[in-house]
Amino acid sequence: MANTAARSAAVEKKIDEILSKMTIEEKVGQMQQLAANMDAAKLDEYRKMGTIGSFLHVLGNDTQKYIEPAEKSRLGIKPIFGIDAIHGHALLKGATVFPSQLAAACTFDEQLVEKMGEVTAKEVAADGLDWVFSPVLCMGRDLRWGRIDETFGEDTEVVARLGAAIIKGYQKDGLVAACAKHYIAYGEATGGRDAYDSQVTERRVREVLLKPFKAAADAEVMSVMTAYGSIDGKPFTTSRKWLTDILKDELGFNGLIVTDWDNYKALVHGQRVCEDLCEACKDGILAGNDMCMYTDVFYNAAIEAVKNGEIPMSAIDDSVRRILRMKARLGLLDGMPARKLPPRSVIGCAEHAAINYEVAKESAVLLKNNGVLPLGDVKSVAVIGLNADDVGAQYGDWTYYSHPNPNPQATPKDSVYTLLKGVREVFGDARVTYAKGCVIEDGDCGADSDKAMDEAVACAKAADVAVVVIGDRLKYNGEGKDVAQPILRGRQIELLKRVKAVNHKVVAVLVNGKPLVLSEAEGYCDAIVETFNGGDMCGLAAARLIKGEENFGGKLPISFPCGVGSGPDYYNQYDYWHGGRYADVKHENPYPFGFGLSYSRFEYSAPVLSAGKAKRDGAVRVSVTVKNASDVDGKETVQLYFRDRVCKMLTPVRKLLDFKKVFIGAGESKTVTFDVAVADLGYYDENCVYTVDAGAFDFYVSGDGINFGHAELIVE
Ligand code: BGC
Repeated sequence: MANTAARSAAVEKKIDEILSKMTIEEKVGQMQQLAANMDAAKLDEYRKMGTIGSFLHVLGNDTQKYIEPAEKSRLGIKPIFGIDAIHGHALLKGATVFPSQLAAACTFDEQLVEKMGEVTAKEVAADGLDWVFSPVLCMGRDLRWGRIDETFGEDTEVVARLGAAIIKGYQKDGLVAACAKHYIAYGEATGGRDAYDSQVTERRVREVLLKPFKAAADAEVMSVMTAYGSIDGKPFTTSRKWLTDILKDELGFNGLIVTDWDNYKALVHGQRVCEDLCEACKDGILAGNDMCMYTDVFYNAAIEAVKNGEIPMSAIDDSVRRILRMKARLGLLDGMPARKLPPRSVIGCAEHAAINYEVAKESAVLLKNNGVLPLGDVKSVAVIGLNADDVGAQYGDWTYYSHPNPNPQATPKDSVYTLLKGVREVFGDARVTYAKGCVIEDGDCGADSDKAMDEAVACAKAADVAVVVIGDRLKYNGEGKDVAQPILRGRQIELLKRVKAVNHKVVAVLVNGKPLVLSEAEGYCDAIVETFNGGDMCGLAAARLIKGEENFGGKLPISFPCGVGSGPDYYNQYDYWHGGRYADVKHENPYPFGFGLSYSRFEYSAPVLSAGKAKRDGAVRVSVTVKNASDVDGKETVQLYFRDRVCKMLTPVRKLLDFKKVFIGAGESKTVTFDVAVADLGYYDENCVYTVDAGAFDFYVSGDGINFGHAELIVE
């Protein structure tokens, strides 16, 4: 403690010293972040100045040419390099590509997710970079949104806990800075339209969206990124209330706020709330943004606004202080202890692949199994589907294949396991045949879609089991790829139907960015496995899982849609609705939040409370005994939900309060306990004041989001 205090006093002293020497131009330069893919001539001009605070999307080999001019500059402050390493350092070919955040959330495993952060940080730092624009703490609730794959799913508690875990992993030993994004309500955009206006209220933000950012601030995340969107007509970029009053002051976030890509320009040309860039810079800086991403005109506009007296120097100094503080923490300021950078050989190393395999295995979710799985030692397997052998579709967004600089022609590294490769390795090459099957989007399978379909059916007919890999393509997954219909596109349902007609063992494996409507398809499948975007090791993990060499332990962090327009389908909705259902789709969701099967069979005892009554400042312990009533060892995620039975404000049908993932050996039982502080059972009243009511509270314990054990607590 004494050391930390002394260190931060030394840092602040050093920053005071630097600030006192800086010109306006040098200060504003620190507040500017430029991108490697901006206009080359302009970038070169800025680079040579040596006073730009940060660059993004520069990969390791190129960093030196940015560092040298900075070292030679008057104050010698090095730039900080940011990168969208959001599921591994995936913009660098050869680095470890982890499952997407959504897939990783299926693990419900904070330690594993922390490890994922740690591995990514090592590879990013070994590549000479400093700052990851991760994690995404947006809520994945509207399945039309293209960026669902980047979220930890639909639940506040899960997003907060996994978010804090990965931040801890990234920032371990100060290796890289993490960036919690996008603050705030980005996932709530109307119609699932990326970066669009959001129809949220402050109460909703506090009830559902703020907690993950509070958890990030508590985990000492070094930076936060401003969302593109708006609340009640006010862009977040210009909202002093949300950036300064709430994030910095109320939540106690003391890192730096960076805008998202070109937010300043959006204030003028998109959202039209500012006359020109000078006004945009003034409004953005005064709101609390410390660094401007991409918009290079910021530099001159902000200098002008300071010189005109429109932006006080104190605001600039506060921002520069936050930026220098981050640089100091990363050892980038002269005189500050430097980080111990890992050697380049850690990038994509075998040890990281082993951790990646574990994440991939724990993230696969078994949605349906009529007994066909595990396959065991079948004689022949037909693997069918474009996504069975498409690294791009398997990786999803934000890799060297996809975005922001897509290279679909890139040859994957040999160690990447597509489903096809995994099945060949696990079941033996000689037993496996492959056919692409059908068109998902125009251009697939060449011109002759009928021929591809016929080949797949013949292939399925000749094999003991058909593993059909379905899902979506990069065209429909990722930033800027919102869809009106989250469905299985093209001829995929027809493919399943025809395969089912010739083979009585059909195992569907989903490779996709988000839950898709399965209501028709599931009738043709004997088993369904969801992998989302499973990274390098997905194919090996899935093949071993379906064979039965491994057991499924993943649960859904997000609900599947009941129908195309049936949203919202997230579990924690309000429950009053005339009719309570759409007339044209089944209301009971077979694959809700928390769901996931296993080869083990878990039996739950009724939950027991340590006391039937508690005071508002008291606590209670909820215990439940879970028995593994099968002969297969397994992991189970035990979920505790609650509801304030009668409340002056609407409350959701139930709300996840806690979860624990436990290993339970075959035939064994484990008692899982949750310590609940009554203070956590509150809600925000109409004035947005957090309140805990007296009265009856219901606790629900579940392992699948469908069946619940119940207990009642009276709060006095
Ligand atoms: C995205 C951010 C990302 C940034 C930099 C933006 O378009 O919204 O999530 O970090 O680009 O690539």
